[in-house]
Amino acid sequence: MKTAIVVYSETGHTLSVAERLMQAYKAKQEDATLFRIESNIHRTMVFHSPTLEGFDHVVIATPVQGFMPAAPMGLFLEQIGTLKGKTVDILLTQAAPWAFFGGTNSLKKIALLIVAKAGLPSKTAIVHWMSKKREQQTNQAIVDLAM
Ligand SMILES: Cc1cc2nc3c(=O)[nH]c(=O)nc-3n(C[C@H](O)[C@H](O)[C@H](O)COP(=O)(O)O)c2cc1C
Repeated sequence: MKTAIVVYSETGHTLSVAERLMQAYKAKQEDATLFRIESNIHRTMVFHSPTLEGFDHVVIATPVQGFMPAAPMGLFLEQIGTLKGKTVDILLTQAAPWAFFGGTNSLKKIALLIVAKAGLPSKTAIVHWMSKKREQQTNQAIVDLAM
């Protein structure tokens, strides 16, 4: 199985979790590639969008911003071609220690965007950055998504 981990990250939180996920895939000898998407400062345009052709599995990794997935990740998902036949996991980071502070809503929004592209939403994980259990949550996210 070929996996693409697509990351949007502004202050490095989501990227750090995604990199650990990447290491977990590598440790299992699985074929995984990490792509970063970038945006302009206003978060209205995305650059460096990877093509997901040839990948069987995708991980969408993004922070929550304003109770929504970060806008550049939403734009990326709207702009890409079909996700037909691909399973898609979602990895979020958010500051608040509670999923109802935007995490749950962001999972729903991303799942809808995946379905709109004929992809199959699969596993999900949220790391709450301000939580005392952040490290535990990060480890659990990696177990849930990569093991
Ligand atoms: C503009 C903006 C809006 C945010 N909105 C939320 C929010 O609604 N809920 C939340 O829990 N965290 C919110 N955060 C915090 C980020 O989700 C959190 O710090 C995340 O881990 C940052 O990830 P990154 O370093 O990969 O960009 C917001 C951060 C920014 C910059």
